[in-house]
Amino acid sequence: MRKRLCWAVCVLAAVCMASPAVWAVKPASPQVSQKAKTNMMRDGAGQEPWWKNAVIYEVYPRSFQDSNGDGIGDLNGIRSRLGYLHWLGVNAIWLTPIYPSPQVDFGYDISNYNNIDSQYGTLADFSQLVSAARKQHIGVLMDLVLNHTSNQHPWFLESESSRTNPKRDWYVWRNGRKGPNGKLLPPNNWQSVFGGSSWQYDKTTGQFYYHKFYIQQPDLNWNNPQVRHAMYNVERFWIRRGVAGFRLDAITTLFEDPKLRNEKPMLGKDGKPIINAFGQVQLNDSLTNNLPQVHGVLRQLRQVADSYHRHILLIGETYLSSVNELRKMYGLHNDELQLPMDMQVGFINKLDVADFRARINEAETELHGDEPLFVFDNHDNYRWERYANAAGVKNPAERENVARLLATIVLASRDTALLYYGDEIGMVTTVPTKKSEVRDPVGIRGWPENKGRDGERTPMQWNSGPNAGFSSAGVKTWLPIPPSYKTVNVAVEKKDPNSLLNWYREMIALKHTNAALHDGQEIMLNTSDEHVLSWLRKTPEGKAVVVACNFTGQPETESFDLTSQGVKGTGLKTLMATPGQAQSQSLGAVHLAPYGVFVGEVK
Ligand code: GLC
Repeated sequence: MRKRLCWAVCVLAAVCMASPAVWAVKPASPQVSQKAKTNMMRDGAGQEPWWKNAVIYEVYPRSFQDSNGDGIGDLNGIRSRLGYLHWLGVNAIWLTPIYPSPQVDFGYDISNYNNIDSQYGTLADFSQLVSAARKQHIGVLMDLVLNHTSNQHPWFLESESSRTNPKRDWYVWRNGRKGPNGKLLPPNNWQSVFGGSSWQYDKTTGQFYYHKFYIQQPDLNWNNPQVRHAMYNVERFWIRRGVAGFRLDAITTLFEDPKLRNEKPMLGKDGKPIINAFGQVQLNDSLTNNLPQVHGVLRQLRQVADSYHRHILLIGETYLSSVNELRKMYGLHNDELQLPMDMQVGFINKLDVADFRARINEAETELHGDEPLFVFDNHDNYRWERYANAAGVKNPAERENVARLLATIVLASRDTALLYYGDEIGMVTTVPTKKSEVRDPVGIRGWPENKGRDGERTPMQWNSGPNAGFSSAGVKTWLPIPPSYKTVNVAVEKKDPNSLLNWYREMIALKHTNAALHDGQEIMLNTSDEHVLSWLRKTPEGKAVVVACNFTGQPETESFDLTSQGVKGTGLKTLMATPGQAQSQSLGAVHLAPYGVFVGEVK
């Protein structure tokens, strides 16, 4: 992960309430049997919640589909692509923020929580999207930004107007310190994730306000019951409009140390302080991130959701340092998040078999059977090709094999899988080449060390026509269309049975329909092997699938003995194999191409 998000890694007509059955796993796929369809559609009491073992797809609305020719994606654009998402097999889409916003942080600076930004559409468009998605058995998840608002939000405008304004205490205002020569200094050494102090001086009232992120994103004071009340009402507002749940943005950062103690520098292996991409000493953020008070808020958010329906999903953006911290996010009584994001697996960032094995195994064994949500890519980090780059893979076919391998880890594990738009076709990060082209403020501030997040937010590549089918011909799109669109696009890949897109689609179908791959236990195999990551998925009824991923650039042949796992049979029926790879018919010799994958049912 990049330095810029090291705060995260270091601690490492209003639609009525939807019946959960309508979000249940997609009904149609060529391989799906009638029995499986019936099972998938049942979602009554006692059935597994719709989000378990599901596939969630992150849509960056600005970049998915432009329907009105302004170069910016919008809600009607997303609606027009639901057929594709259904075909792919996704169960829910998470929309990054679409609320009215000055767009300093492209929507993560919200100025009105109860409406839609006119760039993206209207509330009526949103309702149409939700009902159209429901018809395709796709849930819509909103991004709920609770830590901060825009500095243009009426709450903040009031709060900053005077020290005695009733909303003053809705934000975190503190007095400064006197420096050596009488100069006024920020209250302490805390830093913004996006560089600089996290305190901003306000001349009018002579105090500083706290902002974990941009200056334009003042932090709310979650110790104030009125703030909580207002935000729980926002949650209610969108549940009543039919959302399937929420992704809670930066949820671990709601609270700060009330004593305002300084944070300690992080030290490198050489014992010296680490300098971050903004040229600052990196602090350990132990007093501004993951404070225990957040659990009380999570429980309340969950109670609000549960008061509507137990299937309203709460996902958390939880960059945490260990599986032990992650486990806490589910709540002692499973009363907090259903799916805190597991960033331990997807952000290893190098093809290291032992690391992957350890992290996946922890998710399987240390979460008390709760469901992990594996994430490899999102709008804040370089895309999947960072793995191919880290391994020095140059050959295009082998790079594509790396993409297949990563897709297999996220889709053939016992997890809910979170995909990022464009990953399924192998879109790569396209970073701006000139500072003048950068749109993400963090890239302007951090240039050239940190070029910002535009590279992973480029328009979706639908076809090889003008503007890659994202927008009409001749329109200047908000970020340029990457040159790769001529060959890396949905239309071309749909037609090719060996494409990455079809790999994703088939893996998703297996996740939905193959009993072992759907929810079978996950057991690591050949655990001292340093070249091949392999695991078994098995059900109590004896269905067993073996998955093997070659993490090297050489062909490998792997043999498995599953007798100690109580699995009968030594034959293999191929479910998925990297194109061009030798056939594998028995557990004694599973052949893997360079970065190749094999998925087979034990017979
Ligand atoms: C989260 C979002 C990121 C945003 C930040 C501040 O990390 O994913 O895009 O900039 O929160 O809201």
